[in-house]
Amino acid sequence: MGFCKFSMFCFLCLVIVLLGVHGEENAHDLLMNDRASLLAFMKGVVSDPGGVFENWKNSSDFHVCNWSGVKCNNASERVTELLLNATFLRGTISPALANLSSLTVLDLSGNFFHGHIPKELGSLSHLRQLSLSWNLLEGKIPYELGFLQNMIYLDLGSNRLDGEIPESIFCNGSFSLQYIDLSNNSFSGQIPLNNECVLTELRFLLLWSNKLVGRVPRALSNSTHLEWLDLESNMLSGELPSEIVGEMPVLQILALSYNDFVSHDGNTNLEPFFSSLANSSNLQELELAGNNLGGELPYIIGDLSTNLVQLHLEENLIYGSIPPHISNLVNLTLLNLSSNLINGSIPPKLCRMGMLERVYLSNNSLSGEIPSALGDILHLGLLDLSRNKLSGSIPDSFANLPQLRRLLLYGNQLSGTIPPSLGECVNLEILDLSHNKISGDIPSEVAGLRSLKLYLNLSSNHLFGHLPLELSKMDMVLAIDLSSNNLSGTIPPQLKSCIALENLNLSHNSLGGTLPFSVGQLPYLRELDLSSNQLIGEIPQSLQVSPTLKHLNLSFNKFSGNVFNKGAFASITMDSFLGNYGLCGSIKGMPKCRKRHSHHLVILSILLSLFATATPIFCIFGYRLVLRSKIRRRQLAVFNGGEDLKDEEQDQRKELNYPRVSYRQLLEATGGFSASSLIGSGIGCEVAGWGNFQELQERMPSPKEDKAPEFDKDHHNLQ
Ligand SMILES: *[C@@H]1O[C@H](CO)[C@@H](O)[C@H](O)[C@H]1NC(C)=O
Ligand SMILES: *[C@@H]1O[C@H](CO)[C@@H](O)[C@H](O)[C@H]1NC(C)=O
Ligand SMILES: *[C@@H]1O[C@H](CO)[C@@H](O)[C@H](O)[C@H]1NC(C)=O
Ligand SMILES: *[C@@H]1O[C@H](CO)[C@@H](O)[C@H](O)[C@H]1NC(C)=O
Ligand SMILES: *[C@@H]1O[C@H](CO)[C@@H](O)[C@H](O)[C@H]1NC(C)=O
Ligand SMILES: *[C@@H]1O[C@H](CO)[C@@H](O)[C@H](O)[C@H]1NC(C)=O
Ligand SMILES: *[C@@H]1O[C@H](CO)[C@@H](O)[C@H](O)[C@H]1NC(C)=O
Ligand SMILES: *[C@@H]1O[C@H](CO)[C@@H](O)[C@H](O)[C@H]1NC(C)=O
Ligand SMILES: *[C@@H]1O[C@H](CO)[C@@H](O)[C@H](O)[C@H]1NC(C)=O
Ligand SMILES: *[C@@H]1O[C@H](CO)[C@@H](O)[C@H](O)[C@H]1NC(C)=O
Ligand SMILES: *[C@@H]1O[C@H](CO)[C@@H](O)[C@H](O)[C@H]1NC(C)=O
Ligand SMILES: *[C@@H]1O[C@H](CO)[C@@H](O)[C@H](O)[C@H]1NC(C)=O
Repeated sequence: MGFCKFSMFCFLCLVIVLLGVHGEENAHDLLMNDRASLLAFMKGVVSDPGGVFENWKNSSDFHVCNWSGVKCNNASERVTELLLNATFLRGTISPALANLSSLTVLDLSGNFFHGHIPKELGSLSHLRQLSLSWNLLEGKIPYELGFLQNMIYLDLGSNRLDGEIPESIFCNGSFSLQYIDLSNNSFSGQIPLNNECVLTELRFLLLWSNKLVGRVPRALSNSTHLEWLDLESNMLSGELPSEIVGEMPVLQILALSYNDFVSHDGNTNLEPFFSSLANSSNLQELELAGNNLGGELPYIIGDLSTNLVQLHLEENLIYGSIPPHISNLVNLTLLNLSSNLINGSIPPKLCRMGMLERVYLSNNSLSGEIPSALGDILHLGLLDLSRNKLSGSIPDSFANLPQLRRLLLYGNQLSGTIPPSLGECVNLEILDLSHNKISGDIPSEVAGLRSLKLYLNLSSNHLFGHLPLELSKMDMVLAIDLSSNNLSGTIPPQLKSCIALENLNLSHNSLGGTLPFSVGQLPYLRELDLSSNQLIGEIPQSLQVSPTLKHLNLSFNKFSGNVFNKGAFASITMDSFLGNYGLCGSIKGMPKCRKRHSHHLVILSILLSLFATATPIFCIFGYRLVLRSKIRRRQLAVFNGGEDLKDEEQDQRKELNYPRVSYRQLLEATGGFSASSLIGSGIGCEVAGWGNFQELQERMPSPKEDKAPEFDKDHHNLQ
């Protein structure tokens, strides 16, 4: 019996030892398999020299787990993470990656991978994070990705993927999904979430910029932990999803802009929707722009979360007046009600929203005076009240706004004079008071606003008096438009100090005297319109030799002298010089100047004697031909002149379309994960070299301060 026990024990020992050896070999095999998979993956990818593959390539005995971007589990020695985001890789994603069967994180975002997402990835059953965003991937999402039962984080945003989103993604084993980003692709069809699909853990659903249709699925109301719901820029329709968002107490961002939603009761009632959000006490951003939503702003809008930071209701059909109760939203920094049908006056109570930085009320039917209480909103950086029916004068109180950078009051019925106190807004970059009924002088305080970086537009008012010399202090301004006023006096040579100036329009005034040589020396001058004034004398040579000048209009002045189609004038036509009867030269259509060289005189006299013999009838006929074509050109010019003005106005209006630096861009910038950095606080504009006007404006950061969501990045905490 003893022997038996002993031999039994020995046998067991042997088994254990054998098993142990086998286990070790197995682990080694598996790691070699992982190595083979990684090498197969690398074969399909090109990396820059010195790039991430450098230590993959030149190491035969080098341990896989030491390869850059590769992380292993210390115990099992299997590859668990492949982190190759933003490493300048180009190529295709090899199906061989599917053999990395212990993989939990696959991050290839921010590279140049093209081709399809391999369906084999659906067998990576331990995968918890799949990040393939910001690549050039195309085709459909493989159905098999829905088999990934442990997936928490799925980011396929900003690729070229299309087709319908497979139902399996949302409805099979997706219970653990917390983050879904399919934004900025070309997905079509409906959001495939039927009542059997329950994404109970979902916190972020980002489907913006696709071609999704249909309604917001009712089943989403089961996702009661949702923090971000961004469905912006699709073709979703139906009533605003009040029953769904009403179930989301922790919602922070709700973006439904640029879809085809309607409000309740046949697009007449916004109240049910705003009521449904009243309990979402974390709401920070509400975006409903560009939906053609009808109805009045309900009183209850003031009962939204006081955490609300941004409210976008622009480009809808909202009518009625602004409820003063909206001023309860004391944390609001951005209010955009532009391009609606809102009437009534601006409630002075708005000044209670002390955090407001940007207020857009443009393109409505607001009337009455601009409340001087707006001067109490200390953080105000941008105020756009343009294209309304506001009357009265510009309040003095804007002087209290040290942060004010952009003041846009154009296209109203404002009267009175420009308050000199505006000159105290020492951070002002844009001042547009055009198309009003403002009279008086241009105050020297305002003309001396050195801070103006972008433009000064006082055109189409009733301003009179001289151009203030202080204008020359604007050494950063890109455009000055004082056209269509009653300004008189001369153009000061000191304007040359506005060295950044690209665009100067003083047309349709009563300016006299000569055009200073120094204006043509402005180093970045592209457009100069001095038409319809009473300028005299010669056109300074400096314009002709300007390397930057592209558009010139000197028509309907009293210029005289010679003009040659050389230099900047080579591409400028007679349309720029119409109605200056003292001009002659080689521009097509302009009368020739009397030649001075003697041999020319000889030829001329021969020609003259030849012509003298021709019949006088011929001469008269010829003269009439010239005259007629002149008149036609002039008519044409008037027509084109109108177009030019419009174009120019559009150019300036373009400035209003600031690129929106959104949380989205931040998200992208940070790989969509756990960013905690801030972006672009303040409206500050770094002028990085003088490119062209528009380009510069497009580069402008917008005055937005945004935080990214807190999504725990630490993989250990992913469970
Ligand atoms: C992946 O695994 C399959 C099946 O085990 C095998 O046929 C294939 O060769 C492997 N691929 C690589 C690159 O290791
Ligand atoms: C690996 O590549 C680097 C270049 O980054 C080179 O300097 C080094 O000699 C290579 N090592 C081996 C073992 O080939
Ligand atoms: C490579 O990894 C092994 C174990 O994983 C380790 O012992 C070794 O020091 C590493 N080599 C280098 C050069 O990091
Ligand atoms: C794995 O090993 C590395 C270094 O050998 C160590 O820094 C790390 O903490 C280990 N990870 C775990 C989960 O034990
Ligand atoms: C790659 O992603 C990780 C998190 O997934 C992040 O910490 C890291 O900064 C990213 N690297 C680059 C270059 O974007
Ligand atoms: C759900 O996923 C499992 C794998 O996790 C798969 O076998 C099954 O076919 C899937 N079912 C559907 C309906 O997609
Ligand atoms: C959308 O993706 C494209 C690349 O596919 C990228 O260029 C663009 O900036 C992205 N748009 C946004 C708003 O992020
Ligand atoms: C999910 O939502 C639907 C529709 O709102 C509902 O019928 C269903 O009972 C919900 N399921 C769960 C598990 O809550
Ligand atoms: C908001 O919460 C209150 C109190 O909990 C509740 O009575 C009310 O029905 C809730 N409203 C909505 C729209 O959920
Ligand atoms: C405003 O927002 C800040 C930061 O989110 C918050 O701490 C504060 O309580 C908010 N104020 C109100 C009145 O809700
Ligand atoms: C605003 O417009 C409505 C019609 O939409 C009209 O009934 C109301 O009188 C207007 N209010 C003002 C102040 O013009
Ligand atoms: C506000 O709305 C106007 C009109 O649609 C738009 O041009 C502007 O870009 C919007 N501003 C912001 C910051 O959303």
